[in-house]
Amino acid sequence: MRRGVRRKVCLPMSKSSSIKPPAALEVAALNVYFGQGSERFQAVKDVSFKLEKGDSFGLVGESGSGKSTVLRAISGLIADWDGRISTDGVVVPRHRNKAFYRRMQMVFQDPYASLHPRHTIDGILSEPLKLHGIKDRDAKVLKALDDVGLGKSFRFRYPHQLSGGQRQRVAVARALMLEPEILLLDEPTSALDVSVQAEILNLLNDLRRERNLTFLMVTHDLAVVAHMCQKIAVMNRGEIVEVLSVEQMRKETPKEAYTKELLTASRGYDPDFFSVA
Ligand SMILES: Nc1ncnc2c1ncn2[C@@H]1O[C@H](COP(=O)(O)OP(=O)(O)OP(=O)(O)O)[C@@H](O)[C@H]1O
Ligand SMILES: [Mg+2]
Repeated sequence: MRRGVRRKVCLPMSKSSSIKPPAALEVAALNVYFGQGSERFQAVKDVSFKLEKGDSFGLVGESGSGKSTVLRAISGLIADWDGRISTDGVVVPRHRNKAFYRRMQMVFQDPYASLHPRHTIDGILSEPLKLHGIKDRDAKVLKALDDVGLGKSFRFRYPHQLSGGQRQRVAVARALMLEPEILLLDEPTSALDVSVQAEILNLLNDLRRERNLTFLMVTHDLAVVAHMCQKIAVMNRGEIVEVLSVEQMRKETPKEAYTKELLTASRGYDPDFFSVA
């Protein structure tokens, strides 16, 4: 080699390209408690799971198994918990900060209870923008209404002047105002009439695809899981007993006895789930 001439060193592509990005959301060894002193009890026990960006992950299980508690602990609504919660590889602070809520938002089960009755839709949708000092609020509110299939005529109405489905559209719009990457959805359609459930689920699916959102969704309806999720964690008495794909669930090949029981119970309730190819 001639003096002074440097050879360019190239790293093999496979090494640099095989580095996987960190999980969009990772929950590790989560324990959640309610009550104090001798009344203190553990509602969630050693729960761990991981969502890659763009995943739609379902949490299923019978009533009281701890599904909502997991979501509420992640979103910072419960104080008494331990374990590790991280987004994009960064551990979330115990006191959730503004940056956390820009990345993650929650949609609750009951749109009748989750929207302030004395605020107009405009007030409800502008509030997160005001809190985060975001400008251009008029245009953003109008766009948000449009994105969820509500026209501008809804802007100055109050929640009681809307149907249940329209209210849940507003709740979805509010959750999306800060353009989060992750949505925590707690039974988002179970308070709605069957005829509008599919509308809201389709809206959520479309928004997820368009914006590459990541969903963590609680439901006890296996048809909803089949429509919305690729992967499912089954909870029983505060613990995750099995994580499986929707395909495994359809083919009825779960490993755990509890999951089999849940499927058998659902078959009577929802025979369509097992007949969909
Ligand atoms: N704020 C609270 N204070 C005390 N106990 C609570 C509280 N919230 C939930 N729990 C208890 O924690 C356990 C898990 O409740 P959670 O609401 O997470 O169940 P779930 O799986 O969401 O049920 P469902 O399908 O009925 O909504 C239950 O035993 C419940 O009574
Ligand atoms: Mg619940």
